[in-house]
Formats: sequence, structure tokens, C-alpha cells
Amino acid sequence: MIGSLDTWPAWPEFSLNNNAERSDDLIQFKKAIIKEYGQENLTRSWVKVCSNLEQITAKIRDAGSTIIPEIAFDQLQYLSEEQKEESKKIGCFIIRGVVQRDLAEKWLKDLKDYVSENRKMVTGWPEQTPSILRMYYSPSQMAARSHPNSLKVARELISWWHDKESPQSPDPLTYADAVRIRPPGQPFFGLGPHIDAGSLSRWADPTYRSCYAPVWQGNPEDLDLYELSIRKRANPRLFPGSAHCSVFRAFQGWTSLTTTGPGEGSLLLYPHVKWVMAYVLLRPFFKAPNTEEDVLDASKWTFDPDTPWFPGTFRPESQRLSISSHPHLHLRDCLVHIPPMEPGDTVWWHADMCHAVDTEHKGTGDSAVLYIAATPSTEDNIRYIDSQLEAFRDGYFPPDFRADGRVHSLEQKYKGWLGEAGIISPEGRSAMRLDVEA
Ligand SMILES: [Fe+2]
Repeated sequence: MIGSLDTWPAWPEFSLNNNAERSDDLIQFKKAIIKEYGQENLTRSWVKVCSNLEQITAKIRDAGSTIIPEIAFDQLQYLSEEQKEESKKIGCFIIRGVVQRDLAEKWLKDLKDYVSENRKMVTGWPEQTPSILRMYYSPSQMAARSHPNSLKVARELISWWHDKESPQSPDPLTYADAVRIRPPGQPFFGLGPHIDAGSLSRWADPTYRSCYAPVWQGNPEDLDLYELSIRKRANPRLFPGSAHCSVFRAFQGWTSLTTTGPGEGSLLLYPHVKWVMAYVLLRPFFKAPNTEEDVLDASKWTFDPDTPWFPGTFRPESQRLSISSHPHLHLRDCLVHIPPMEPGDTVWWHADMCHAVDTEHKGTGDSAVLYIAATPSTEDNIRYIDSQLEAFRDGYFPPDFRADGRVHSLEQKYKGWLGEAGIISPEGRSAMRLDVEA
């Protein structure tokens, strides 16, 4: 059965005395939440969340990767409400055959040619063995993002969110992100279990933390992770850091360009997004019992208003998780591989979902993906995409990828650069905010 990892990689563990951000100002964020919602409510939620996690982790252990829904692209428009609700509850799913295999393979070939023709200018991460390439506007990326089917999927997935204040536009935006080409045999430890969309911001930004009000109020079952009215104004970049994305992504996604199976540089996801998120939010408010045997008994944990520690939280980075810091998650069993992917397949996961990248690539060919998200047209997102367009017109990297003194390269100078001509559809131009009245 495809499921969790056979061997847990040497990903970092987080504890108060080892691998912790220690800063006096941390305590104020805990105090503010306790003052607003109270110890009693937080404790009630803690017990409920840990109890729900017992059931969820048992389900994931039984089902392995089959718990991740799979949807055929041509069925996406015809899903029943129940099917959609199930996919939303799990929080991640595969959409197969978004583009034809031949086309995805052509994109990869073109991409590799483009990289080799511009090798001297292309940089990547990790520095020694770059597989995530700092390249945002290659013709293949431009074509994939503006392909009508990619935008059709994004439009549908954006519609899975709702806004109780005002009807939201289903029009997707194009967030220009990098590309990954990972050769076989190359280890990669850079992306252990983590959650995107900010880290400390979730507690520190009053708007962001109010998205999770039911968790603080003792009613985590009422948390609606698909409600946009507050979330669209939350600030995931309250603290600067190159790991933080400026836009709100309804779902993050990969478009696969290769055949990639588990253990071949693939992705791992933790299904049932709501309960994991609720647990991560509550975890800093509780202290583990001293005896090892009691650790999984939530009632033995004590309320802890005084320790300035948010486990796995480092303000410039994504939210990190580990077995010892987040024991009720049973990460070893519940972080499961996505099923095998073929060129043209896509995988999608909620902005609050815990995920990780295989440390191993035991396959025989490259594992290549394009990062293409479903990005809704919120006001803040539009503002960012407008700044991205300005950078694109000048040939510069997108604003999110110019931070921290990174080597900057002018993509306009790359051999094969197509600029706007690389966008293959009118809806692709709109998603880039071209041809749009300001
Ligand atoms: Fe991530």
C-alpha cells in the first residue's frame, strides 16, 4: 500500500532547548490570544482536537494514500456537492490529465533546452545541487500557466471558497513561481514537514488569527477553512522572510511534467487539513507531561501561558512540524505520499496543509514539476500581481523572489525569452493583469 515513509528522514526535531526561536516578544502573542479568548476555551479546544486526531490518524493509517481523492480533469465540472465537500475536508486531491501527456513532455523538453542555453545565468536551491530553479518566465512556465485547462482548474478551485461578506470573483490570477527539475539519486532535506502561508503571522496578526476564531473559542468543529472574508485580509508576511508568499493561494499546486512515484522526489501530504491546523495553532499553549507514557494523553498536558515558544515556528520561515514537537499528529504514519503522477497530472493542497518533499529520489528519470497555484482575485492579490507585472515587463524576477540579497538575474536577457508572447490564451493575459483596465 502506498502511504507513509518506510524510514523517517533526518528532518529536524524542535524542542524548547534545541531548534527554537527564543525571543522575548513572542510571549505577547500568546498573552493576547489568552486575554481575548480565555484559558478555558483554549483547553476545551485542545481536548477536542486531540480526540478528533485520534480518529483521523487511525483513518489515515488504514487508508494510506487512497485517502487522497483523485479526480479526472474532464469530471471536475460535474462533481457532486458531496464529492466536493469530501475533497475540501481532506484538503488535498489529485486532478489527472489537466493537459495531454505529450504537451507536458514537450514543456519539459523545452524547459531543459532553455535551462541549458542559459546555464550560466540560472541559479537555484539548494546552492550545491540546485533543483528548484530561480526561473519564472520560461516559455514552458508561461504556456503552462496560461493554458486554458490550467486556468479552468484554478477557476473551479477558487469557487470552492466562499466569502460571506461579498461575492468573490472566480477569476484566477497568475502567480509566477519557480520550477523544479530534480535528477534521480539526489538527496534533498530542505522541505521537511511544513505549512506554507506564513508562520508566526498566524498568531501575531490579529486579522490572521481571527480566521481561526472557532479554535480559540473552544469550538474547533466550527472552523471553516474555506471562508475568505477575513482570510483575504490576513497578512502572511507580517515578518519578512523569503519563505513567505505575498499572495493568498486558495490551493497550492504542482503540475507534473514527468512520471514520478512515491520515493522518487515526490510529495507527502497530511490529509484532514482542519484538525491538523487546529492542533498546530493550539500546541504553543500547552506543555507536555514529564512522563513519556503520558504524552499522548491530552488531559495530562498543562496550560502554559508563560513560555515564549511556538514549536517549529521561526518567523522568516514556513511553519515547521516534527514528531517530538507535535506528537498527537503521528507524523510518521500520517504524512502520506501522493499516488504516482504522470505528465499532465496535477496535485493540489490547501494553504493550511502540512506537506513535505521526498528526501530521496530512487527513480530513474528526472522528477520535474511546475509550481502553479489557484490564486483568487482578492484586492491584496491584485496589488501583488500588478507589481509582478511591472517586474515582468522589465524582465526582473517577481517581487517575492527578489528578497534577501539573492543573486538577481534579468530574465529578459535569457536566450529564448518570449516575454508577453509566451502567454498562450486571452484568459492567461487577464490572469497576468494584462489588458485589464486599472
Ligand atoms: Fe511548501
